[in-house]
Amino acid sequence: ANERTLSIIKPDAVAGNHIGAIYDRFEQAGLKIVAAKMLQLDDEKAGGFYAEHAERPFYNDLKSFMMSGPVLVSVLEGENAIAKHREIMGATNPKDAEKGTIRADFASSIDENAVHGSDSAESAKREISYFFSDDEVCARTR
Ligand code: CMP
Repeated sequence: ANERTLSIIKPDAVAGNHIGAIYDRFEQAGLKIVAAKMLQLDDEKAGGFYAEHAERPFYNDLKSFMMSGPVLVSVLEGENAIAKHREIMGATNPKDAEKGTIRADFASSIDENAVHGSDSAESAKREISYFFSDDEVCARTR
């Protein structure tokens, strides 16, 4: 089915000047960028996004990392976009990520792992509306 998913290029990958290389992988995979913005997250915005991890031991480090520099948040659209995006990102821990995936090539650790992608249709819906209003997401008819 045609789907939308939320993508975040995290502070490590922005700092490493990998935005273009990562966008190229999305586009080569047939995913269309239908919304995008660069943001500096604060404690409230980062914490709310990762609220489901609030009780995990890594929550505070995760928030600090996500506030350590700007992130690029995007909405990607395409056939099977949620699974396709997860496939090209690779496993959460770059040590486990398959060769040729974004995390294998650009991430240094499970904490600084270059990208985030929605893990289900439900989280995609929540995460897209967390960062974008309806009128900020563009229809791609060509
Ligand atoms: P992300 O997909 O953005 O979702 C939560 C993030 O927490 C995850 O990527 C990792 O970067 C980070 N993280 C740190 N430790 C863990 C862990 N043990 N399990 C899952 N995620 C972790």
